Amino acid sequence: MFIEKFRVESPNVKYGEHQIESVYSYETTEVVHEIRDGTYQWVVKPKSVRYQFKTDTHVPKLGVMLVGWGGNNGSTLTAGVIANREGISWVTKEKIQRANYYGSLTQASAIRVGSFNGEEIYAPFKSLLPMVNPDDIIFGGWDINSMNLADSMARARVLDIDLQKQLRPYMESMVPLPGIYNPDFIAANQGSRANNIIGGSKKHQVEQIMKDIREFKEREKVDKVVVLWTANTERYSNVVVGLSDTMENLLAALERDEAEISPSTLYAIACILENVPFINGSPQNTFVPGLIDLAIRRNILIGGDDFKSGQTKMKSVLVDFLVGAGIKVGITSIFSSMVGTWDHPSFGIFESDLFNLQPTSIVSYNHLGNNDGMNLSAPQTFRSKEISKSNVVDDMVSSNGILYEPGEHPDHVIVIKYVPYVGDGKRAMDEYTSEIFMGGRNTIVLHNTCEDSLLAAPIILDLVLLAELSTRIQLKTEGESKFHSFHPVASILSYLTKAPLVPPGTPVVNALSKQRAMLENILRACIGLAPENNMILEYK
Ligand code: NAI
Repeated sequence: MFIEKFRVESPNVKYGEHQIESVYSYETTEVVHEIRDGTYQWVVKPKSVRYQFKTDTHVPKLGVMLVGWGGNNGSTLTAGVIANREGISWVTKEKIQRANYYGSLTQASAIRVGSFNGEEIYAPFKSLLPMVNPDDIIFGGWDINSMNLADSMARARVLDIDLQKQLRPYMESMVPLPGIYNPDFIAANQGSRANNIIGGSKKHQVEQIMKDIREFKEREKVDKVVVLWTANTERYSNVVVGLSDTMENLLAALERDEAEISPSTLYAIACILENVPFINGSPQNTFVPGLIDLAIRRNILIGGDDFKSGQTKMKSVLVDFLVGAGIKVGITSIFSSMVGTWDHPSFGIFESDLFNLQPTSIVSYNHLGNNDGMNLSAPQTFRSKEISKSNVVDDMVSSNGILYEPGEHPDHVIVIKYVPYVGDGKRAMDEYTSEIFMGGRNTIVLHNTCEDSLLAAPIILDLVLLAELSTRIQLKTEGESKFHSFHPVASILSYLTKAPLVPPGTPVVNALSKQRAMLENILRACIGLAPENNMILEYK
């Protein structure tokens, strides 16, 4: 059964006029390596930590400023939100289609609340805590191309034409602000788009972005702003000691107008100095150590990197399933030191190498025909994407020491080809080869065709809504005297990103189900509910 909303009645939760207060007992385990009976042993100690949460229930009027507003994602998201807000429907060749928020965790997914008369009760994810209604978001932002949003939507060739016609009047007057352009950081093929740019020094550019944010806030009368990068993938910037390694060095490098500060880092600096959260939806290393330092010291939320929309989302489910099922997927072949031929293998000297052959792999092909696909055809920008797509299985592989030796790494190959014909309708082709019982082989092949921006837009929505919500939550443990916000490096957003940014020294979790559980269970804790443990003991 599905219910729209609910209220928790418990001594652990208090709904006040302005906030929800909860007490939560965090049941966890501590692992220690200690001497017992004269030898080192692993000892696991269950422990219970009492937490208090405080959630501000005032839902602000939210402004979202997108960097790359006129791109496929930016225009598709803006169009989608207007269509939902205005209740627009349109005719397709199959049916009358109504606007919806499918693909959004917050707007279109459900959580289990409990059971009633032997039936499971579910409620919308968004009913957990008061969240901004996406229909009420005011959009703005920057683009190095001056095209208005109605024309951008047409250029993107994502939405049905009947829908575009209805949306045009709402979007024609939306024009992106000039952006920070540095041709050294994106592919040369983007040069012809750059007709709307902020000139001057890097310091001036940062000041201009800060001014843009203040003016947007004032003009649109919004209480809060969140900025999100959905502009083109940049190349990695070189992290240089003395330049981008600490907050002081980064700000001093800005004063000196150093060449190696990327545009995305400049936007992020501006946001942090303006006390505005910044999320990076692309793979590049916007968050250089000095920037992370700045965000931590000013306690401003940063989140990223790279939207986890299609292929990687699938990978973080499939590899979790395979490794969790005890199936060995994707391990490097040890061909390099082998000599001899298959007819006359050099058994003896190289026997161990030969028997170590693991013909298992994950190979991912992408055919992309949209503008960022063209941008990714340059080796430097492709490299950013390759890095962010590659590390996604690491935690799952290292979790199973029965299948993998320490240090074994997946034979994980990423290929991206620019195929203009497919436009935004990306093709993702994956082959997972794994080893099963008694040396058997298991090959899974996936072919996915999907409009890239229709996958990414709801994720952008979730990122900004959850980022906003998480700035309204405060917590403390029993040992702490004062409430504090979550760590500014928002690992709570991991579910939505390919290469989750986490605070220094924190484990990265890539498995999708764990990421979702983490997010849902933290929000449940804020209303005094136990984590979803799926034990269903009532019926055992
Ligand atoms: P797009 O090329 O259609 O849009 C990017 C926009 O950014 C363009 O309008 C461009 O003019 C603008 N731009 C470039 N540099 C800029 C700067 N420095 N300042 C302001 N504007 C700038 O690309 P699309 O398809 O919208 O993707 C955007 C980003 O999202 C890409 O980096 C892509 O890798 C990332 N992404 C997309 C996913 C998807 O499923 N669509 C998934 C994961 C990441």
